Amino acid sequence: MSRIPLIAGNWKMNGLVADATALAQGIAAKAKAAPALGCQLLICPPFPLLGVAATAVAGSPVAVGGQDCHAKVSGAHTGDTSASLLKDVGCSYVILGHSERRTDHAETDSQVKAKAEAALAAGLVAIVCIGETLAQRDAGQTIEVNTSQLRGSLPAGANAENTVIAYEPVWAIGTGRVATPDQAQEVHAAIRAELIKLIGADEAGKMRILYGGSMKPDNAAQLIALPDVDGGLIGGASLKVDDFWAIAQAAG
Ligand code: 13P
Repeated sequence: MSRIPLIAGNWKMNGLVADATALAQGIAAKAKAAPALGCQLLICPPFPLLGVAATAVAGSPVAVGGQDCHAKVSGAHTGDTSASLLKDVGCSYVILGHSERRTDHAETDSQVKAKAEAALAAGLVAIVCIGETLAQRDAGQTIEVNTSQLRGSLPAGANAENTVIAYEPVWAIGTGRVATPDQAQEVHAAIRAELIKLIGADEAGKMRILYGGSMKPDNAAQLIALPDVDGGLIGGASLKVDDFWAIAQAAG
């Protein structure tokens, strides 16, 4: 089953207008100069920088995504952003259920599922994040934690076109401690096996499952080459044009 890898940059809460413009323009320029690149590229800046980023990548194959959205279409939700507004300012993807949101904002699986359903309704691709903590891994709960989060967070109507899964072991995020290829493949294969039960073998076989957590230019190729790893969700290394581009080249 061939799946086109997705290389997604999660900028988190980093950058000001000038940095974001330069970063987005730099990535767009590289992408335009490499029409044969075999992966899709996505950048996910903080909300106020989405318009800046969308303008900077216009005319290039680089897509733009948000880092969260609200489950409701509109209304009295101060500080929140709707999926339809993300779409309106040029997004085609949205990251949902990142472990930092699950921790910082106590997001639950059912909230992530509702947000993902709002994203699908607005015509966005939902990137649904799951992952175990170090304590859960040490307790031998890795597969159960991930399959349980997947069951609880997957939107109704999920298919390979509208949903991407991101496996991000919490202990690997921003720590420089990357999952070994064996660790990553074991969890990715378990996620795909669970997807087969949830959405059927055909869609599960086509759905992309990204790895995230200290993915860097020097470890990306061996992770992305794994049978069930279909790209990366990259934090720190997505903030430098050359590092992000090196990862893209490792994928494509
Ligand atoms: P790092 O690549 O900085 O470890 O972050 C990973 C991540 O959380 C991407 O969503």
